Amino acid sequence: MLRHGVFVCFLLGMLIILPLVLAPQPVLAATDSYVNRYLKASEPVALESDADGNTRLFSADDFSAGKVLFEQNCLNCHVGGANLPDPNISLSLADLKGATPPRDNINSLVAYLREPMTYDGSEETFWCRQVPESWMPQAQIENLAAFIIRAAQKAPGWGVENFES
Ligand code: HEC
Repeated sequence: MLRHGVFVCFLLGMLIILPLVLAPQPVLAATDSYVNRYLKASEPVALESDADGNTRLFSADDFSAGKVLFEQNCLNCHVGGANLPDPNISLSLADLKGATPPRDNINSLVAYLREPMTYDGSEETFWCRQVPESWMPQAQIENLAAFIIRAAQKAPGWGVENFES
């Protein structure tokens, strides 16, 4: 009798718990915890899209999508915004701004990723990874660029930590 009771309790318990476990997860899960914590994007963030000061809004989900692309394709050489093969050209805001032309707005950074140039802008470089349209369509590469610029603006240590020591 007792064992019977335990079994019935178990069944009732499962009836209550299972729908909770199987329920669709809320969309919130898409936002990365690093993005929440460091990129300060609980409200959409306006980033400069060109050198004339025009801006475009990016949401926490856009930054999260950009972060995934960065982790999958760029992290090996640019962990934490550094540049392991060429430490002088990091992804810090100062280094992005200092390039010719500056790479600290969405369009100029996308242009760089589509066709990487040397720091002085004089010729193509083959050291960084080129990102053609066939691989990352415009909306995706803009999220990637937005993640980099926002991390350079806000994330502690981005591009300024020295990973060599
Ligand atoms: C194999 C290593 C490697 C990979 C992978 C790589 N990069 Fe680079 N990246 C470099 C090197 C080296 C440079 C400096 C190139 C030069 O100026 O000749 C560079 C430069 C850059 C710059 C310019 C930084 C500045 O201050 O001007 C940006 C932005 C950049 N990379 C972004 C990316 C992104 C985004 C990805 C992923 C899609 C990526 N890189 C993948 C090696 C890499």
